[in-house]
Parts: sequence; C-alpha cells; structure tokens
Amino acid sequence: MTEQAQNTTHFGFQTVPEEEKAGMVHGVFTRVASRYDLMNDLMSAGIHRVWKDAMMDWLAPQPWQRLLDVAGGTGDIAFRFLKRAPGAQAVVCDLTESMLVEGQKRAEAERLGEDLDWVVGDAMALPFETGSFDVVTNAFGTRNVTRIQDWLNEAYRVLRPGGRLMVLEFSQMPNPMLQWAYDRYSFNVIPVMGQIVTNDRGSYQYLVESIRKFPDQDTFADMIRRAGFEQVKYRNMSMGIAALHSGWKI
Ligand SMILES: C[S@@+](CC[C@H](N)C(=O)[O-])C[C@H]1O[C@@H](n2cnc3c(N)ncnc32)[C@H](O)[C@@H]1O
Repeated sequence: MTEQAQNTTHFGFQTVPEEEKAGMVHGVFTRVASRYDLMNDLMSAGIHRVWKDAMMDWLAPQPWQRLLDVAGGTGDIAFRFLKRAPGAQAVVCDLTESMLVEGQKRAEAERLGEDLDWVVGDAMALPFETGSFDVVTNAFGTRNVTRIQDWLNEAYRVLRPGGRLMVLEFSQMPNPMLQWAYDRYSFNVIPVMGQIVTNDRGSYQYLVESIRKFPDQDTFADMIRRAGFEQVKYRNMSMGIAALHSGWKI
C-alpha cells in the first residue's frame, strides 16, 4: 500500500530521481567530448591549466607512484602527473567513454600511452582492488557525481595506507561581491559560449548550475574527513573560484 519515497538529487538546478542523474551527466559529456578541451581554455581563459599545475605542485608526483585519476576525462591530470614523474603509472577512470577516447588521441600524440590505462567506471563503485593506488585525484568531476560521499568512501578504499587524495573543484568565493560578479559571468557568458563552440547551450547551462550547487570549501572538507581521511586541508585558487582539497589515508 505504501510506496517508498523516491530518492532525488540535483542535476544543475533541476531536481531529478537519483537513478537518472548519471545518465544525464553521461549525456552532457558525450555531447561535449570532442570540444571539451577547447571549451575549457575558452571558458577559463586558460586558467584551469594554472589550477591543474598548482595541483601537481602540491601533490609532488614521484616515479614510484601509481595514480588513479577519477572522472579523468581527456587526461589533463594524468598527463601532468606522468610528465612530472617519468616512470610513474596512471589509470584514468571515467563514466563517459567518449571523453576517454578524446584523451587516448591526445596520449598517442604526446607519446604518453605506455604508462597509462583508460577504464570506463563509476566513481561511486570504482572497479579497482582495495589499497591498489598511492594517489587518487579528481579534477572538476566531483560535482557531477550523484552521491559524493560514496565516491569519497571509494577513494579511501582504493588507496593504500599512506596514500593521498587530492580533489580540484569549483568552489564558493568568500567575498560576496566577487561571487556576484563571477556569477554574472558564469550565467551570462558560458552558456552562450557553449552554444557557439559546441552548438549545445544546455550542457553548459548545466555546468554553471552544478558549480553553484556544490558545497563550500569547509563543508566539502568535512565530507572528506567523514570518508576517513586525515590531515584534510584546502587551498583556494583564484580567490575561491576553485579549491584544491588534500587528505591522507593514514
Ligand atoms: C568537467 S569533466 C572533468 C574532466 C577532467 N578531470 C578535467 O579536469 O578536465 C567531468 C568528468 O566527470 C565524469 N564523470 C561524471 N560523473 C562521473 C562518475 N560518477 N564517475 C566517473 N566519472 C564521472 C564525466 O564523464 C566527465 O568526463
């Protein structure tokens, strides 16, 4: 007689049943995959590269490490890792095969294929053994995941004791005036740019909405702690437009 209440989540500003979100996210990244890297440079005026380099500076990759880059898309983080630590191993895992295909083309062009694997998989149920990585990273993927706590728990599981998690994600600017100005830019310019470059305004409308739905720095740091990580710290990038979060599995 009683029907169980359906669990819901957000897809940008829409409320959707939890089981539908991953399919919708997969649709977004399948549509934008071929122009994803170009759009990243245009939307951020290249600043995403500075943030990703800052991630590597803090992470300090080592040649003996095995990296798992979750929601790794076209490979930006894995490529940087391998270039800084020749001899290291990296696995890029992503829900959307088309993003990985674009990454594989880049890896071939940059001759980085040998130390790199590409795996289709979900951050919430990582297809890897417990304790099998030294480092787990994620750049701009977390806010797309349906149950973020599940993904953080999985990151903890697949890391070996002594391993490190680092997440780069859009965040909240502590200064409300700057946040207001940034919102004007995001909501008015990025979807139009998406329309012009990818002929897909809707996907970029989702992307800017998903940024606004993501928890602030301290709330997200608490979620990382809840997964079991210790020494959790974050650094704001570009006055809090994005933030880098670090935690250790002790
Ligand atoms: C904004 S892109 C980031 C790509 C890359 N990390 C970068 O920094 O350029 C987000 C990526 O997250 C992936 N993604 C979304 N939900 C996921 C999930 N549940 N598990 C694994 N990957 C997911 C998407 O397919 C997409 O490739």
